[in-house]
Amino acid sequence: MEDKLIEKLVSIAGEDWVIVDLEKIEGYLYDETPKPASPEAIEDVVVVKPEDSEEISAVMKLANEEGVNVIPRGAGTGLCGAAIPTKPAIILSLERLNDIKDLDEDNLMVTCEAGVTLENLFEKVDETDHLFFPPHPGDEGAQVGGLVVENAGGARAVKYGVMRNYVKGMEVVLPTGEQVSLGGKILKNNTGYDLMHLLMGSEGTLGIITEVTLRLYPEANETATLLVPFEDRHSAMSAVPRVLIEGHIPLALEYVEKELIEESARHLGKSWPADEGEAFLILIITGKDEEEIFDKSETMVGVLQENGALEPLFAQRRKEQESILDIRSNVYTALEEETTDILDVTVPPAEVGTLIDKIEELAEEYDTRIPVYGHAADGNVHPHIMNVDGEAPGYFEELKEEIYQIALDMGGVITGEHGVGETRLKNLPAALSEEERKLMRGIKKIFDPNDVLNLGKAVM
Ligand code: LAC
Ligand code: ZN
Repeated sequence: MEDKLIEKLVSIAGEDWVIVDLEKIEGYLYDETPKPASPEAIEDVVVVKPEDSEEISAVMKLANEEGVNVIPRGAGTGLCGAAIPTKPAIILSLERLNDIKDLDEDNLMVTCEAGVTLENLFEKVDETDHLFFPPHPGDEGAQVGGLVVENAGGARAVKYGVMRNYVKGMEVVLPTGEQVSLGGKILKNNTGYDLMHLLMGSEGTLGIITEVTLRLYPEANETATLLVPFEDRHSAMSAVPRVLIEGHIPLALEYVEKELIEESARHLGKSWPADEGEAFLILIITGKDEEEIFDKSETMVGVLQENGALEPLFAQRRKEQESILDIRSNVYTALEEETTDILDVTVPPAEVGTLIDKIEELAEEYDTRIPVYGHAADGNVHPHIMNVDGEAPGYFEELKEEIYQIALDMGGVITGEHGVGETRLKNLPAALSEEERKLMRGIKKIFDPNDVLNLGKAVM
């Protein structure tokens, strides 16, 4: 990066908040994408940590004048390389925008800056004792802005949906530096095109979200976690639609297999609490009081047992429930070292068992192991392509394309929660028509006429 540019950044954000020292930059170069699948980061970058949207706006104006690529960055917990610099760039970290500005109990909304972590948001909302922010996209270190631009999903999306369903308002700095305020503390809004929803899932290519207003829910007074063992995958999967039809939609409905979940438990130095069964459903049930939880659990256990469930384990103590969710959330971390890439294909929910069977057939064909687990009720699972001798196998791209094609042929999509970023860019032509991609390129051009925001990510 040229000295002149660095000087201008210093004049905007102050010397302490412009980082050029390579050692200090290192932590900003990568995200959580497994190394073999991850694009190689280049080191020709400068990190800037603005204090507010005014400074962000000034950085964007400078980037337009100088024609420099800017990469907005949250906590770097993404899984598609969307925040990895593959061209010289200003990395714009949102970490200093970490204020929770307003918790409005009457409107059930919280307004916070983009750099607030999910963990801090949970803590703040918890203080109210009766409000609740449902989504749990795995890593609680993730920042709110990142969760929104990646439209994160995770385990607790069955009942109230993914991030998109919570965002009601946002403050945005456009790629050209102008600022816009979209939506607000409102639940209905039909005033023109919904620009806010375009920003969600835009992977930092259409604007920099500086603040969001999120909807909260009142229902978390009591939760229970049901750990339900089955003899095999087929009985577990066929029980899923039955539970949903029955009517008490759980907050989460996850699917894991014994070998994998025990691997994750060992990785955390814990033990998996179930001792029978090969396949498990994990259900989180919410209710206003203990009685409601018991009633719902009883009905669900009835339905599950009619569909082949073995003796379920009922966890009500908070620590016990957190431990089950923690073991589930760490399957990825347990496998990461040996993983070439983690996929997040999504099919119509009732087809997810068939999808896993087809992936298992592929594993046999390629003479490899493809662990699969995930968000059963969302039809969204994570097949892992594994390393061979510590490296990406020669068939990596081919196998990935085959898995994507299976999902597409089933009426599914190649990514249901982790996004396109850079790692899935080359697979977009198989997933979207030329007409769709042309519209997306056009939208990118309108928002970012000088091509300065997160180039080479998400759209092609
Ligand atoms: C999970 C993340 C990796 O479901 O999406 O564990
Ligand atoms: Zn997931």
